[in-house]
Formats: sequence, structure tokens, C-alpha cells
Amino acid sequence: MSDRYLDFINSPVGQMVAKNLGLPAPQPLERHEEGKPVVSGDVLLGAAAGSDLTTTIAGILGKFKANVFANFDSGVHAAAAAANLSIQAYAASAEDKQKFKALVFDASGITRSDDLIALHSFFSPVIRKIAFSGRIIVIGRTPELLDNPKHATAQRALEGFVRAIAKEVKKGCNAQLIYVAPGAEQGLESSLRFFISPKSAYVSGQVVRLSNTGIAGETPDWNRPLNGKVALVTGASRGIGAAIAHTLARDGAHVICLDVPQQEADLHQVAGEIGGSVLALDITSAEAPGRIAEHCKNAHGGLDIIVHNAGVTRDKTLANMKEQLWNMVININLSSEERINDELLAQNVIRPNGRVICVSSISGIAGNMGQTNYAVSKAGVIGLVNSSVPALQAKGITINAVAPGFIETQMTAAIPFAIREAGRRMNSMSQGGLPVDVAETIAWFANPASSAVNNNIVRVCGQSLIGA
Ligand SMILES: NC(=O)c1ccc[n+]([C@@H]2O[C@H](COP(=O)([O-])OP(=O)(O)OC[C@H]3O[C@@H](n4cnc5c(N)ncnc54)[C@H](O)[C@@H]3O)[C@@H](O)[C@H]2O)c1
Repeated sequence: MSDRYLDFINSPVGQMVAKNLGLPAPQPLERHEEGKPVVSGDVLLGAAAGSDLTTTIAGILGKFKANVFANFDSGVHAAAAAANLSIQAYAASAEDKQKFKALVFDASGITRSDDLIALHSFFSPVIRKIAFSGRIIVIGRTPELLDNPKHATAQRALEGFVRAIAKEVKKGCNAQLIYVAPGAEQGLESSLRFFISPKSAYVSGQVVRLSNTGIAGETPDWNRPLNGKVALVTGASRGIGAAIAHTLARDGAHVICLDVPQQEADLHQVAGEIGGSVLALDITSAEAPGRIAEHCKNAHGGLDIIVHNAGVTRDKTLANMKEQLWNMVININLSSEERINDELLAQNVIRPNGRVICVSSISGIAGNMGQTNYAVSKAGVIGLVNSSVPALQAKGITINAVAPGFIETQMTAAIPFAIREAGRRMNSMSQGGLPVDVAETIAWFANPASSAVNNNIVRVCGQSLIGA
């Protein structure tokens, strides 16, 4: 559904009205377009003294031919030389017209609270030089895994910086923090590529943990990273599910599109557009797990990626909620996912370096009026992710979830106008996201190089104020 306010506010008259009345002024977000570079603008790379991830970061930036700058006095130049990356020296001044599409900072060397000043020293002089839809990426070390309490404290503090700066930068910019566990350095590439690119347009203020899963990742063709992979997407006939199917197919996967038999015509339409196949069934039916497993084995010899996207809302305050509505929502949104995962695991359908990807909701994080059933189901999805890690990891499979905020779909179009408008604006980007924003985040989880991305719940919500 179109966002008329966003269109109006970006017209010459609308800009004047917004300025005079102090109205939110959402900026149209830059999104991925086929053939465009990973980052279309200059990158400023910085590092706190003693950081040990800079060479890895420089090597990754070099792979996608980013145009990289660094301050004269930083240790980045030595790290870049070690990574064979040629960089340009840069000194910020109030007069210079330089704009950066991304500010990337290696904060791994921050070992004490006093050292946190390094964030100020790097970002303060250049924060106004960030371009439209620019990116701020801070990279640190996972606090829970650090032995030294002072070091753990300082690294945990990075979260506050990222969440706050994400609220300060406007112009469609965002900010994220990536914690890298020892041994997970090789997993940084897929995450840095995602977060520095327009694919992460509606993800902001997020903290991602890369862990040493022991799962061997693969180096993909970055233009078609899912070449040769088979993915199954539930609820694929429309909305977010259709966008996921399109995005995974764009990345090279064969997509099995699943939805209820009543949606079969739309399902065939989506599958036809992407060269995928159709599996029309109700995921709550008793035979669904077995049929999915059989289909994947017989038609494809197994499965690489399953995306549990199908979901419904049946909103009522608890006092007015019939037991049947409670059961229906829990069954579709949560219990069926458990049953399907159990069957796929029991029959060893998911191949090594496989992916289980769930769709939660910010309602499952923050709760929402009239959504006790839905919030229970979506909080349960987070529980499913957290609790499934040991069994899945032992089979070389990762599990993660997206938690979308307000996404423009039939589900949100059905919300009454005033509530819908509030939901749309109550985030740092003052607008709803698009189904493709959720799909791109899922495609990053699905990437065969993302084997260090495990047990993460990533909100795709433009940094919604709800549950933040
Ligand atoms: N739209 C949003 O703002 C938003 C926000 C947070 C989370 N989500 C979640 O994203 C997912 C997709 O949402 P959407 O907005 O695209 O919804 P949608 O209603 O447009 O699509 C959901 C799809 O799931 C299918 N489905 C429902 N029950 C099924 C069943 N028993 N078996 C098989 N398929 C079934 C439907 O037929 C439909 O095609 C859902 O899990 C939803 O809870 C959406």
C-alpha cells in the first residue's frame, strides 16, 4: 500500500510544511538494485587503538572494491597494507565537502571504559558528512565471551552508542553493531556486505552476534549466493512470503512455494514468476510435516533453507478472545513450525550448512494490545530459535529469526487508519518497511557464507520505538 504522507512530505510544498510544523520528514530509502555496487559511495574506516579486526575488515572492503579513506593518524593504514587494500588519507574539516556512504569502525580494541572516547574521536568530526541512506557500522567483540570484566563492560557499552546514534542520524541512514566471537572472523564478510549495502535499508539499531559455530561456511558467487540451493518458503502466495520467494530466487535458489490450497492460484503465479515449484498444503494439517519432508527428499534430494513465514493475526482483547482464536494463532504461528522442524530433523532432510529461518514480530518482543495470542506465538518463535540451537548446530544447521515491525502488506492494510498511521511513523525512519526489507534480511541469513550467524533475532523495523 502506498505511503501518501511520505510522497507528500518529499514534494517541495510538503518539505516546507514539514519544516514549519515540525512534522516527521521520512526520507525515501535507497534499496538494492540489480547491478549496483555493494556500496555506492566512499567509506571511512576507523579503528580504536589495539583493535584486531581491522585487517579482516579492510580485506572484505577490498573484495567489493570499496573506495576507502582513513584518518592520517590511525592504525588503519598498516592494517589496510596488510590486507593489500589501497586507502586514501583523510582529515575532516568543517569546510570540506566530502560525503561518506559508510562509516565503519573497528572498536574491538576498546578494553576499558576510558577508551570509549575513541567512539567520539572518530564519529563526532564526520557524523555530519554521512550521505543519504548512509551506514554506520561498529564492530566489536562479544562481551559474554570476554574474561576481563572491564573489557566486557566496555564492549557492552557499544550497544548504547549504536542505538543512540541510529536515532540521531536522519536522511534514511542506519547504524548497527556486529559482535565477532573468537574464531568467527571468517563469518564477517556476509554480514558486512549486508549491513553496508542498501539491502539493510529498514534494519537499524540492531546488535548481531557472530559465533564460532564450527559449521563450515561456503564462499559463494556473491551475485548469486544461493546457486544450487533449495529453499522452502511457507505463506509464499503473497505479502512478505512472496517477497522472500522472489529474493531467494534472485539469489539463485530453487524455491518451493508453500501456502494453503485456497491460495493455490496466487501461489502458482509467484512460483511461475521465479521458476519455482508449488506445494499447496495447510501447515497445521497432521500430514503436513511428513508431506514436506517427502516432497523435499523426492523432488530435490533434501533441503537447504526453510523459511517459516506463514502467520496470521486474530486480534481481540483477552476478555473477548474465544479459545478457538487463541488455538488457531498458536497452531499456525508456532506449533506447526515445531512439528515441521522435528520431522525435517528426524528424517535428516536439511543438508549440512542448512538454514532454518523464522519470522517473529516486534509484537513478540514488546507485546501489543489485543494481541495476546499473537504475541505469545511470536515470543514462542524466539524461544524456538534459542532452544533449537544445540540440536541444529550439531547437524551443521543455523537458526535465526527476523522480527518485523510495521511492514506494508495486506496484514497491516487491515489495521484501522489511526493505529496504522501511528504504527507506520513510530520508528527512527518515520515510515513502514517493505516486504523486500524482510526478505533481504532473510537472504543474508540464508547466504552459505553466513554460518557464523546463529541464534540471532534481528528486527526489521526501522528502529521502532516499540520494545526498543
Ligand atoms: N506485515 C507486518 O507488518 C508483519 C509484522 C510482523 C510480523 N509479520 C509476520 O510476517 C509473516 C508474513 O506476514 P504478511 O504480512 O505477509 O501476512 P499475509 O497475511 O499477507 O500472508 C501470510 C500468508 O501465510 C499463509 N498462511 C496462513 N495460514 C497458513 C497455513 N495454515 N498454512 C499455510 N499457509 C498459511 C496465508 O495464506 C498467507 O499467504 C507472518 O508470520 C506475520 O506474522 C508481519
